[in-house]
Amino acid sequence: MKVGTREVIRVENLTKYYGKRLAVDNISFNVERGEVVGFLGPNAAGKTTTMRILTGFLAPTRGDVWVAGYNIISHSLEARQHIGYFPEAMPLYRDMTVRSYLDFSSRLRGLDKNRIKTRIEEVVDICHLEEYIDVLIGKLSKGFRQRVGVAQAIIHEPEVLILDEPTIGIDPIQVAMTRQLIKELGKERTILLSTHILSEVSMTCERVIIINEGRIVAEDRIENLSSLISGSKRIRLEVEGPSGKVAERLRQIEGILQVSYEDSHYIVECSAGQDPRGKIMETIVQGGWTLLSLESIEMSLEDIFLKLTTEGETSQ
Ligand SMILES: Nc1ncnc2c1ncn2[C@@H]1O[C@H](COP(=O)(O)OP(=O)(O)OP(=O)(O)O)[C@@H](O)[C@H]1O
Ligand SMILES: [Mg+2]
Repeated sequence: MKVGTREVIRVENLTKYYGKRLAVDNISFNVERGEVVGFLGPNAAGKTTTMRILTGFLAPTRGDVWVAGYNIISHSLEARQHIGYFPEAMPLYRDMTVRSYLDFSSRLRGLDKNRIKTRIEEVVDICHLEEYIDVLIGKLSKGFRQRVGVAQAIIHEPEVLILDEPTIGIDPIQVAMTRQLIKELGKERTILLSTHILSEVSMTCERVIIINEGRIVAEDRIENLSSLISGSKRIRLEVEGPSGKVAERLRQIEGILQVSYEDSHYIVECSAGQDPRGKIMETIVQGGWTLLSLESIEMSLEDIFLKLTTEGETSQ
């Protein structure tokens, strides 16, 4: 049974236990046709587990998953025809050439025999593997092996790509090339891409789902993420004066949650909706010190990620 048209991936109340260990804790999310979504989280967050369930390699303990309208359990074959999967541990055959491996993958995916040769040429072109097509996979560098991994994932022209950390462990040039490849693929396909690198998400994805300890802690478009942090704001200032005393006085100001001192600057964290800049200036003048600079600082994606994932820990 096919359901829905816009939602290409639909996950409802998905839970996975490995024995007693809870790896995925009742998560729900959707990915719409054409979206490139980053699935972000620290080690052991549950990314690979979720992706293995989405691709039909692992049965969930509870919950439902539909891909391209097909339920991954009751209509696994149909669903899997629409999925290209780049797994975390890619079982590449080292003693096969790129061409023979892609030929093997095509047959495994049930590609029409007459189509195989041209489709191999197409994916080799897309993944820039022309020079290596007759080279043994075992002789390729890691970055190019990853490209073969991507090539096998798209060989059957799937609508949905599930990529589990496709840029892990490769050098910066290869990383840039792989990201470019993902961007190109994302123009025509729906992609769910896992990573624990924030900058990767901002470079390749439009939306991000952040998972920590098996739960979704945030889900939004990249540009909206900072507003998820309840409007809390940080200010950096440079003051001529005795650092211990200055910090102590700053901490007493209403609306200031935390004051730290690094690189001869004070970093002041303010509570939501508060703007204590006027009070900060007053306090410094009253202390007989000199304010050399004062600026608001935007939260970086790293700050947001850390904040979201550590908040998740403390709430349990
Ligand atoms: N086959 C397994 N048997 C038992 N526990 C497992 C198994 N696979 C994963 N886990 C556990 O489930 C949790 C989630 O693991 P998972 O591999 O999904 O995390 P991840 O987000 O992909 O992490 P990483 O960034 O390190 O790849 C971890 O606590 C892990 O130890
Ligand atoms: Mg993983």
